[in-house]
Amino acid sequence: MKTLLTTTAALLALSMPAVAEGDAAAGEKVFNQCKACHMIQSPSEVIVRGGKVGPNLYGVIGRTMGSVEGFKYSDGLKAKHDAGEVWTEETLAAYATDPNEFLGSRSKMTFKLRKGAEDVAAYLATFSE
Ligand code: HEC
Repeated sequence: MKTLLTTTAALLALSMPAVAEGDAAAGEKVFNQCKACHMIQSPSEVIVRGGKVGPNLYGVIGRTMGSVEGFKYSDGLKAKHDAGEVWTEETLAAYATDPNEFLGSRSKMTFKLRKGAEDVAAYLATFSE
């Protein structure tokens, strides 16, 4: 009985979400919601096939906002770009949750992620140095 209780406690501890820390493996599944509009493509290979409505998200964490060559960003993202702001896991999670709110103006991204923002941010971070 004691062993059973210990095991249960250990399993519970494992299933507790780490505070404000994204889970990249879970984020891979969340990314299914982004694929309609975004691909993940490195200079040498397509990592995740996706749409072209939104910019390529390869290396997005650590990248200056609104900096994919040739992509026509909204004025809000252009302003962030000009201010030299860089995507972090925190800002990306906030943006994915509510793009208009994050920019303070209308984003061209007409999508709001209901849950898993930290996870998808952690997943995208795996494609950055
Ligand atoms: C309906 C299409 C659509 C979906 C779904 C979508 N996006 Fe976007 N995304 C866009 C568009 C369009 C832009 C450009 C926004 C702008 O210019 O305001 C964008 C921009 C972005 C940017 C800014 C990139 C840069 O180069 O600065 C990030 C980060 C991003 N999306 C993440 C996500 C994530 C994560 C998901 C899934 C949870 C997602 N998007 C789902 C269309 C989409």
